[in-house]
Amino acid sequence: MAKIIYIGGNKGGSGKTSVAHLLCTGLALLNRTAALVTTDNRPLRSSQGRPYNILDGREGKALAALIEAATRSKDDAYLVIDGGATRHGEFDKTISKFAALFLIPFTACIEDMELASAYCLEHTHSFVVPNRWTTNSMAAKADKVLLDQMEEALPRRVMPPVPDTRGSGMLLENEIIAKDINTRTRNVARALAINVLEKLLSVG
Ligand SMILES: Nc1ncnc2c1ncn2[C@@H]1O[C@H](COP(=O)(O)OP(=O)(O)OP(=O)(O)O)[C@@H](O)[C@H]1O
Ligand SMILES: [Mg+2]
Repeated sequence: MAKIIYIGGNKGGSGKTSVAHLLCTGLALLNRTAALVTTDNRPLRSSQGRPYNILDGREGKALAALIEAATRSKDDAYLVIDGGATRHGEFDKTISKFAALFLIPFTACIEDMELASAYCLEHTHSFVVPNRWTTNSMAAKADKVLLDQMEEALPRRVMPPVPDTRGSGMLLENEIIAKDINTRTRNVARALAINVLEKLLSVG
């Protein structure tokens, strides 16, 4: 069966789409087959030039067919579902049932953290992912306090942070050229993919 990784949460702009694209990029860099499923109602980005395919899950039926195909597939592949902005609650509950991992990105702000931790407690196989984490050493001290608070509230369910990476914005463009993905973005993507593969092993 292809592994389904669902990226959701009830906070707009926390980085669901960015984390989904970074994860697919990283899995491809590790020579894994990955596809990203879009579920939000925005125009579909092109797969052209990317090291992973983008699939259309904007209609319920199409999404169900993709999930069904993944659960039947014998491929060693990864289906990364970007949960979209406008669908939460029941949608997340339904889709996450099929997912081996449910990732909930959050940024370093109290509102994001509270929403993400409450959400994480509601879903099994769910982990929060600190996203856009600072790379500035002064701010890092303050943000470490936030991470420790999250770890206390959600023991062993806080993934290593995804750093703030300006180059990740490029992955959100309609068309990209894989060779233009800069080294820093590749490194961030690869590290994220390694952490996710480890987590998949730990949840069985
Ligand atoms: N790790 C990151 N480094 C730098 N910028 C980031 C990172 N993650 C997200 N961003 C930026 O933050 C903004 C929101 O990110 P994104 O669109 O991925 O969030 P989202 O949760 O998918 O939003 P929505 O709820 O609207 O679907 C974008 O401008 C994106 O480029
Ligand atoms: Mg999005």
